[in-house]
Amino acid sequence: FEVPAELEKRMDEAISHYPVSKRSAVLPLLHLMQEHFRFISDEAVNWVAAKLSLEPIQVLEVVTFYPGFRQSAPGKFHIRVCRTLSCAMAGSYELMDAFCKAGNIDRSHTDHHHPIAVSADGKYSIEFAECLASCGFGPVCMIEDDFYEKVDPAKVGELLAQRV
Ligand code: FES
Repeated sequence: FEVPAELEKRMDEAISHYPVSKRSAVLPLLHLMQEHFRFISDEAVNWVAAKLSLEPIQVLEVVTFYPGFRQSAPGKFHIRVCRTLSCAMAGSYELMDAFCKAGNIDRSHTDHHHPIAVSADGKYSIEFAECLASCGFGPVCMIEDDFYEKVDPAKVGELLAQRV
């Protein structure tokens, strides 16, 4: 498992902000890991643990606690569909179905521990997310870092087609 020198430099910089307790740098380091590798692998967990003189389990606990961290590789374009109450009532489950159909994604193997489904061609991946903080405008979703409100399930094919 290789961490590029440039990335490690950014991590050292982040660690330097926590002179009293290196442990507090777990979150920023994991964010940098995910930004670079797109998910947090077991190797990444071990690497961060070694870097901060922690046990891997202590790092893993943080990874599993925050739903924003992914533990498996996403597709090229990762979709997150909010399913918290307001969005659920506004149709997030229909939206999820529409994305899966348009992106040819099979979610039948997902569960609590494996929330991400990836299309066979690796182009799209999808998961449900908890509240994305725009509850009055559901259903809400994100594709990569782009945010979409009041998404019409009939339009998701167009949304995906924009991603090449
Ligand atoms: Fe979906 Fe809050 S419930 S954004």
